[in-house]
Amino acid sequence: MAITQAHIDHYRTHGYAVVENFLSPKEIAGARADIETLRPGWVDFCLDPSAPKPADWNQPVHMRFPFPGEHLNTITVHPELRRMAAELAGTDDLYCEQSDLSLKCMGHPADREQGMHCDYRNHTLVYPPDEPIYWQTAYLIYYTDVTDDHAPTAVCSKQHYADELLWPAEVTRKERQDLYHNEVRLTVPAGSLFAYSMRTFHRGTRFKADVGRVAHFITYAPSAWKWLGIVGWGSKAIRSDFARWVSTASLEERAAFGFPPPGDPYWTDETRAGVSARYPEMDMGPYEEG
Ligand SMILES: [Fe+2]
Repeated sequence: MAITQAHIDHYRTHGYAVVENFLSPKEIAGARADIETLRPGWVDFCLDPSAPKPADWNQPVHMRFPFPGEHLNTITVHPELRRMAAELAGTDDLYCEQSDLSLKCMGHPADREQGMHCDYRNHTLVYPPDEPIYWQTAYLIYYTDVTDDHAPTAVCSKQHYADELLWPAEVTRKERQDLYHNEVRLTVPAGSLFAYSMRTFHRGTRFKADVGRVAHFITYAPSAWKWLGIVGWGSKAIRSDFARWVSTASLEERAAFGFPPPGDPYWTDETRAGVSARYPEMDMGPYEEG
């Protein structure tokens, strides 16, 4: 299902939106195949908890873009994710500041009752103002079903804390019973999308059964502001799979990772020669002077 105006309106009013069945069955299958390559056994266990647990079921793992295979990388730059973030921030000049896979199950180190929090503490150096030009749009895509047993994300509408300074960015149940009382637990089918802002209180919840789930955090920020973002992609650029992805990505996809767009003053005879040498498969045509 596409992201509709109703989703965007809901996001503006409540600080989040849920798009059920955002991914097609084909996209879900592709993502699951990539996850199977990356972490064998996880998808099978999440789909059928009577299956054996994956060998690394209790290991904390950090998996960040680029991923093996093409599907998770393609979903990272899904045009609809970029379109929604662009509409909210009022600019097409966006930076993909996060693409992290999240695997967890009952008893896993990440299986815990989180406190209500806003994510800006590790997505910006400063404070997220209620000004669209600074809006980062965070997404969580679920690749396996989330029932009430599967540690659903809980979220509280911004209507309950409008006009407050969002500090502390994490509050206990005792401190803000109202936020916990008004939370919504997001139970959704595989392929669904949760979109939320850096000003939206939410939390991870604990598993209620011996099951697991796989999800993907993807966040877009306006490119203009250097204080935003969870990563700098330069640290990943040394990897051959990153080079492969960059070589085949579209101009818009590359730009979303901070690549200088065609026409940028960066492009000179020297930089074209250097980038072409580094990425021999890349079509340098668009970076030639017009
Ligand atoms: Fe969070």
